[in-house]
Amino acid sequence: MPELDQGKGGYKAIVLVICSVAALGGLLFGLDQGFIANSLETLTAHYHLTVPQKESYSAILATGGIVGALLSGVLARVLGRKKSLLLAGFIFTAVSAYSALLPDLAILSACRFALGFAVGIASFVVPLYLSETAPPAIRGSMGTLFQLMITIGIFLISLSNVYIARTVVAPATALSLMFLSITVFAALMFFGGFILPESPRWLMLKDRKQEAVAVLGRTLNRQSEIDLEISEIEQALHGPQGAGLGIIFRGYFLKVLMVGILLQMFQQLVGINVMIYYAPTIFGFAGMKGIVAMMTVPTVNMLFTFPAISLVEKWGRKKLLYLGAVAMLVTMIAAGIAFQSIGANPSPTAITSAPKLILLLAVIVYIFGFAVSWGPVVWLVCSEIFPLEGREVGMTLTTMVNWTFAGLLMANALTFMEKHGNSSIFYLFSGFCVLAVAFVALFVPETKGITLEEMEFNLRDGVRLRDLGKRA
Ligand code: BGC
Repeated sequence: MPELDQGKGGYKAIVLVICSVAALGGLLFGLDQGFIANSLETLTAHYHLTVPQKESYSAILATGGIVGALLSGVLARVLGRKKSLLLAGFIFTAVSAYSALLPDLAILSACRFALGFAVGIASFVVPLYLSETAPPAIRGSMGTLFQLMITIGIFLISLSNVYIARTVVAPATALSLMFLSITVFAALMFFGGFILPESPRWLMLKDRKQEAVAVLGRTLNRQSEIDLEISEIEQALHGPQGAGLGIIFRGYFLKVLMVGILLQMFQQLVGINVMIYYAPTIFGFAGMKGIVAMMTVPTVNMLFTFPAISLVEKWGRKKLLYLGAVAMLVTMIAAGIAFQSIGANPSPTAITSAPKLILLLAVIVYIFGFAVSWGPVVWLVCSEIFPLEGREVGMTLTTMVNWTFAGLLMANALTFMEKHGNSSIFYLFSGFCVLAVAFVALFVPETKGITLEEMEFNLRDGVRLRDLGKRA
């Protein structure tokens, strides 16, 4: 294959626009995901929320995400990648701006459902668009950029919500400002989206070769690069095409589908979003308030996503999954013990500093364990294990499973703690960590250092799941 030396020619300005707008897609995912933690108190003050109302407002984002993920494949195919991104950007902007007007709770919840729908679309279309439109030499790093931007989004909204909550006294004004800060980024994505070129691969799919060539002329530097890209797309279009849902009835596909589904299920059952959404509330149960309670989770989560990016290639996926699960297992037991020693409903002044310190350390190491492993690795493995013709179906279904379990936890965690005691939920999560370790050991293949084609060959050859990543 001829060498591409994008680096020497430098990248055109449009490439920067492509990456930034796409990065904004990841950022908005994070902004909406991280919104709840430090706004819940203000939301409660303004809307007088009960515990179940808090849970359902938090969780409805996930329901929207499931619907968005389900429809995103069809939208990306029918509307095209660019128009799907514009649609997501429009929903993000209009709905966050409308939420800032503080409509009644039912409408505000419908708005959060719509935000989830946009997140569901963006989380499918942004990586797809990048993999088809960014110059070949930087495609790999674009995938990890999307993951990073999610954690940066969670961090930024946590920080700005803390700042707003502390400087603006009236809950109504504070809440409007919180929604408006999301609107600013959403508008940037929406209006930035108009400058984006359409994906050349989609244009070719629609028999619009001339336009595809014109787009590549804008993003690439040399005619030879453009010709190479066009011929690769043509080859791919003549190869096996995306299969329909029927592929799930083929035995070899069903096997990897189960791996993907269980990975996504465990990614949520270890309890990450209970921490992302409710950490300030949980720290509050232990009598801890203030900046540490509000910012520890998003900060540690963002910082440790950076090393994960190089570690997945150095150590491999499975080692990281073990490391993360064991770290989360131990720390969830520690958090459970801390809450047990605090007991039920003590007055905040009666809580000694030892259990507070244990809880804080446990949460820090827990989030480190997740951010460096299960956070990025599960998405990566799910993008690697499916045979090409079933990749779209596989990724859509596994993404929907992720949102389903995320929603279930957000919708029930606080009530569960209220009913069964604060420590119970942490013991439950540690139990899921044990199951997750056993599952990784028995069924998950190591996908480092093997090409997707080799793995597909092994799969069709009947190699057992955990050996799929071994060279034949
Ligand atoms: C998970 C999200 C979670 C985020 C935290 C992602 O990998 O799928 O549910 O909120 O990590 O960084």
